[in-house]
Amino acid sequence: MTLTDATTDATTDARTTRTPEATSVVDTDRRSARPRRYVMAPPTFFAVEYVINPWMDPSAPVDAALAAQQWDALRQVYLALGHTVDLLEPVAGLPDMVYAANGGVIVNGRAVVARFAYDGRAGEAPAHRDWMAKAGYAPAHTRHINEGQGDLLVVGATILAGHGFRTDRRAHDEIAAHTGLPVISLELVDPRFYHLDTALAVLDDATIAYYPPAFAEPSRTMLTELFPDAIEVCSADAFVLGLNVVSDGLNVVLPAAATGFAEQLRALGFRPVGVDLSELLKGGGSVKCCTLEVHP
Ligand code: ARG
Repeated sequence: MTLTDATTDATTDARTTRTPEATSVVDTDRRSARPRRYVMAPPTFFAVEYVINPWMDPSAPVDAALAAQQWDALRQVYLALGHTVDLLEPVAGLPDMVYAANGGVIVNGRAVVARFAYDGRAGEAPAHRDWMAKAGYAPAHTRHINEGQGDLLVVGATILAGHGFRTDRRAHDEIAAHTGLPVISLELVDPRFYHLDTALAVLDDATIAYYPPAFAEPSRTMLTELFPDAIEVCSADAFVLGLNVVSDGLNVVLPAAATGFAEQLRALGFRPVGVDLSELLKGGGSVKCCTLEVHP
């Protein structure tokens, strides 16, 4: 199945579509926003030059000016919501550096630098390490591959950790040791959802949304047990990387094309804020990929 076929995958849809609750009262009262600190990297040298995930096609042209405009619009959304955005200096020759989420994980006063799976991205790690050091952290490293917040998502005082495509399962234990937080391992099985943040979204300290078919059966069972109230999104939303979102607990910045997910969010009292990152999607990333959160 190709990326474009996926939206018509009716079997999966039947299994995973959830009709938003038939509520007339939108319950925004139980949601609250907390100011966040993000790190982003301008897409100055962004390009699709190699293929390390099924979304990338070097023969499809990227509009660099449009990419820059879309990226800046995302930054402006964060600023307008009252969040802080720190910037990394873009580095020539690192076309994927715009996907800042992959640079590491910062939580509980500890910072762990990424160890990238592919050589093409390895040069991004020192830029993140330097930023962490300048921000006052003592950056730790892992022996095994970890692609930062692409695969390591903080929910409350727990880290949900993906493996199967990029981050090595053995790095999960290293992350737990470095951060002092429990890590729950989740296995990804569909190459189009190669990072955890393409298949699962953290909405607040206790709420997640995910796309069940992206996970191995035991991981699906674990997610149902841990998050009985999780939002399950449909294929149409998953295949526009609709789960690649950034939430402050109330406002959920998400790809504008994920309209079904936006409705589900609204029905549960969140405020979806759609943005268009069509150019960044060509590298296999969207909102969350472009945003590293510095957790307190
Ligand atoms: N082209 C990049 C890669 O394959 C995209 C990374 C997207 N980042 C993310 N957090 N999912 O590594």
